[in-house]
Amino acid sequence: MNALITGASRGLGLALVTRYAARADWHVFAVARDPDASEELARAVRDSGGRITVVTADVAMADAGMTIASKVGGKTLDLLVNNAGAMDEHELADLTQDDLVEIFKVNAFAPLLVTQALRKKLASGAKIVNITSVLGSIARAGEGYLAYGMSKAALNMLTKKLASELHDVAVLSLHPGWVQTRMGGPGASITVDTSADGMVRVIDGFDRRRSGSYLAYDGSNIPW
Ligand SMILES: NC(=O)c1ccc[n+]([C@@H]2O[C@H](COP(=O)([O-])OP(=O)(O)OC[C@H]3O[C@@H](n4cnc5c(N)ncnc54)[C@H](OP(=O)(O)O)[C@@H]3O)[C@@H](O)[C@H]2O)c1
Repeated sequence: MNALITGASRGLGLALVTRYAARADWHVFAVARDPDASEELARAVRDSGGRITVVTADVAMADAGMTIASKVGGKTLDLLVNNAGAMDEHELADLTQDDLVEIFKVNAFAPLLVTQALRKKLASGAKIVNITSVLGSIARAGEGYLAYGMSKAALNMLTKKLASELHDVAVLSLHPGWVQTRMGGPGASITVDTSADGMVRVIDGFDRRRSGSYLAYDGSNIPW
């Protein structure tokens, strides 16, 4: 079995990489834009006994999909996790077009373009997991995180569109909870281990019958 996970340098992406690489029958393609800057990823690679291949790609760049696809080569993928994500905390009064383009490139365009590039490499029955946020829920929209919420709502639409268009794979929008990573901050409500263990359980139990779902790390449904 082969998985490809973006945003593998730290946080939740790295935690997912180590979990799948710990499974004897899995190989993981770990995508990071600057892998040499991550000692944790280097350690995970050393400890994996050859089960992790590092792919250097900045998912915000237009050619990232091609770079990633060529590294995967002739292998088929059973799991694609579009995890790389960026935060933006500008408020309505000071958001610029550049801020918006930047966050949409990482959080919404990249998952589409990486999926597009890898489409033909996805095994029948493969799972595409888009790491979203509850802040992308239109039903629960509140004050703050304007650009981030918009970008994750766009990502959620991608989940629905892919679920409608790709009949041989299962597509999921997965909210990791509020997690103690660089993005979530030290005051977040759950640890990386709690979130990653929960997400792996949800992904393991997920299949085509529920394609197009919006779930949290504990398996609960989130309203769109
Ligand atoms: N933490 C939370 O509370 C929380 C809540 C809801 C959703 N999420 C989502 O969970 C996912 C993982 O976030 P996290 O909490 O683990 O945050 P994190 O620790 O800040 O990690 C973000 C990851 O995304 C990568 N990344 C960002 N821009 C990239 C780019 N242009 N190309 C390649 N990689 C890029 C980062 O790589 P570098 O090391 O190179 O910067 C890093 O590996 C994100 O999609 C985030 O939106 C997190």
